Amino acid sequence: MVENNTFKKILVTGGAGFIGSHVVDELLSSGYSVRVMDNLGSPTHDGTIPEWLAKKAEFIKGDVRNKDDWRRALEGVDSVIHLAAYMDFHLDFSDYIRTNIESVALLFELIVVEKFPIKKIVMASSQSVYGEGQYVCVTHGTGYYAPRTEEQLARHEWEQVCPVCRMTVESVAEKETDQLKPLIPYGISKLSAEQLLFALGKLYNVPSVALRFSIVLGPRQSFRHYYSGALRSFAVNVLSDEPIQMNEDGRQIRDFVHVKDVARAHLTVLNDPRANFESFNVGIGIGTRVLELGKLVAEDASVPFNPLLNNRYRVGGARHSLMDIDKLKRLGWEPLYSLSDAVHDYLEWVRQFGDLSQYLKKTEDQMREQGIQKTF
Ligand SMILES: NC(=O)c1ccc[n+]([C@@H]2O[C@H](COP(=O)([O-])OP(=O)(O)OC[C@H]3O[C@@H](n4cnc5c(N)ncnc54)[C@H](O)[C@@H]3O)[C@@H](O)[C@H]2O)c1
Repeated sequence: MVENNTFKKILVTGGAGFIGSHVVDELLSSGYSVRVMDNLGSPTHDGTIPEWLAKKAEFIKGDVRNKDDWRRALEGVDSVIHLAAYMDFHLDFSDYIRTNIESVALLFELIVVEKFPIKKIVMASSQSVYGEGQYVCVTHGTGYYAPRTEEQLARHEWEQVCPVCRMTVESVAEKETDQLKPLIPYGISKLSAEQLLFALGKLYNVPSVALRFSIVLGPRQSFRHYYSGALRSFAVNVLSDEPIQMNEDGRQIRDFVHVKDVARAHLTVLNDPRANFESFNVGIGIGTRVLELGKLVAEDASVPFNPLLNNRYRVGGARHSLMDIDKLKRLGWEPLYSLSDAVHDYLEWVRQFGDLSQYLKKTEDQMREQGIQKTF
C-alpha cells in the first residue's frame, strides 16, 4: 500500500495516548514505519508504556517541550503527526503555551536550522478554536454569540437567546471559514499553534495541515483527564450503579466522533496535497444532545435511564457546538462509525478497569475547587 504514498517513516508525538495510539495502528496497517515520541506523563499515563501501544511502533520517551528530544525523534523520519498537547482547563496557563505552541516552534527550529528533511506535518487542533460560535434567530438572523453570563446561568436560563427579541436561538454548525474566538487558554494555544504552523510551513515550504477534532470517543480514552467528558462520566455512573449525572439541563448539543474515524482522517490529509496549509473539521457532522448520549450509555449497559440533572456548568463551555465536516468529506473521508458504535466500543473497553469512580470524583473535586465547574 505504501508504494503509492510519499512518506515512509512517520513520527507520531503523543502516540501512546488515546487518539495517537489509534493513529499509530492506522499507519502501521497501511504499511508505514512509525516512531512514537511520548513523555508518558500524567494525567494520561502512570509513567509506563500502555499495553495498547502497538509493539511494531518504535518508542522514544521524550517531551515535545525539549529540543534535544525532538532532535532524537526526528532522525530518519520524513513526516510528523503532532498530537502531544496540554489539554483541558487547568490553572497553569503557561503550560498551554509551552506545550502546544512552543513545541511547533521547536520543531521548525530543527527543520530550518538543522535541516531535518521533514516533508509534511499534520497537527491536532480542536473545535475549541471556535469558542461559542454562531447561532441563528428566526427573526433576526445569524451572528456570533458571547458566552452566557453567570447571571443568566444562575437563573438556569441555559439556552442562548437573541439579544434583540430574547427568543431562544439555534446553533449553527461551525465551518473552517468561521471567525475563530476561543474562550479558554487551551483553545487559544491551539489557534496560535495553527497560525505558527501555517506561517512557518509556508515560509519554509513544509506542507502542513491542522485537524480540528470535535469530541472524540472510543477505547483507550483517558479516564484521568478533567474533560474526558460526558461519556467517561456516564460510563462511570452506570458501571457503579449510580444515576447518570449531567451538567445544565442535558440539552446541550455536541458533535461526537469515533476515534477510528479520526485516526483515518490523518491518512487522508497526509496523502492528499490538496490538504496542504489547510485546517479541517473532524467530527461526525451530526449534533446530539447530551441527554441522548446518556440514553445510549444506559441502553448499552442495559440499565434504566433516569438522569440526574445537577445544574452544574463548566466555565468556558459553549452551550452548543457542532461541526460542518464537508471540507474534509470533499477529500474523500467520511465518518464510518455511529455514536452507538463509539459508546459500545468505549464501554466494552472501560469495563476491564473495574470501578473508576475514584478518578471521576478526583477530577470533579478538583474542578470544583478550582472554580472550573460551578453549580448554579
Ligand atoms: N480527545 C478529544 O476529544 C480531543 C478533541 C480535540 C482535540 N484533541 C487533541 O488531540 C490530541 C490528542 O489528544 P488525546 O485525546 O489523544 O489525549 P491523550 O492524553 O490521550 O494523548 C496525548 C498524549 O500526548 C502525550 N503528551 C502530553 N504532553 C506531552 C509532552 N509535553 N511531550 C510528549 N508527550 C506528551 C501524553 O502522554 C499522551 O500520551 C491533542 O492534541 C488534543 O488537544 C483531542
